[in-house]
Amino acid sequence: MASIIVIYHSGFGHTKHQAERVHAGVASVAGVSATLLTSDEAIAQMDSLAAADAIIFGCPTYMGGPSAQFKKFIDATGGVWMKQGWADKIAAGFTNSGGLSGDKQTTLSYLATFAAQHSMVWVSLGQMTAGQSAEDVNRLGAYTGAMAQSAHGSSAPSSGDLRTAELLGQRVARATLRWVKGK
Ligand SMILES: Cc1cc2nc3c(=O)[nH]c(=O)nc-3n(C[C@H](O)[C@H](O)[C@H](O)COP(=O)(O)O)c2cc1C
Repeated sequence: MASIIVIYHSGFGHTKHQAERVHAGVASVAGVSATLLTSDEAIAQMDSLAAADAIIFGCPTYMGGPSAQFKKFIDATGGVWMKQGWADKIAAGFTNSGGLSGDKQTTLSYLATFAAQHSMVWVSLGQMTAGQSAEDVNRLGAYTGAMAQSAHGSSAPSSGDLRTAELLGQRVARATLRWVKGK
């Protein structure tokens, strides 16, 4: 059994929808246990994170980068980083923001850099862009991780963005199973 934790921050609930679909994607793969934590919960459960085979990071893009609340979690991992306690765990990331671009790539790039600082193994999205309509997978054209866009005041990202989130979760789960098997 591989253990995968999805950690997210969501200020107003939009990114929470995306995180829940990433979690659902992970949970849909046999042989994997999936846990969903807010970044504040994660800070209080560093021991559970140490036991995980993979961690998926997600947050809204605020001011062209990760939200400060998620950065608080990131900075709380300094002690783990000192000991390289997450080395060789699988990692992946997702972000949601109001603009079609909104500089979401900066956030994904940052999350990948964060994972690299921990010597984690980054898993990309692995989905071609199916089209630009709301129901299309990877309509925003990201490859580093999963992107979603929520117009101001809307309750959730589009169906295609949520499906993209689910596919990221499935890909990470399958990659983790292969990784754990080869240990
Ligand atoms: C402080 C702040 C900064 C923001 N900066 C950006 C930004 O740089 N790019 C963008 O597209 N949207 C930006 N937004 C919009 C949010 O990304 C968008 O509303 C998102 O859906 C919020 O997700 P959440 O409900 O999970 O917090 C910003 C919102 C806030 C509150």
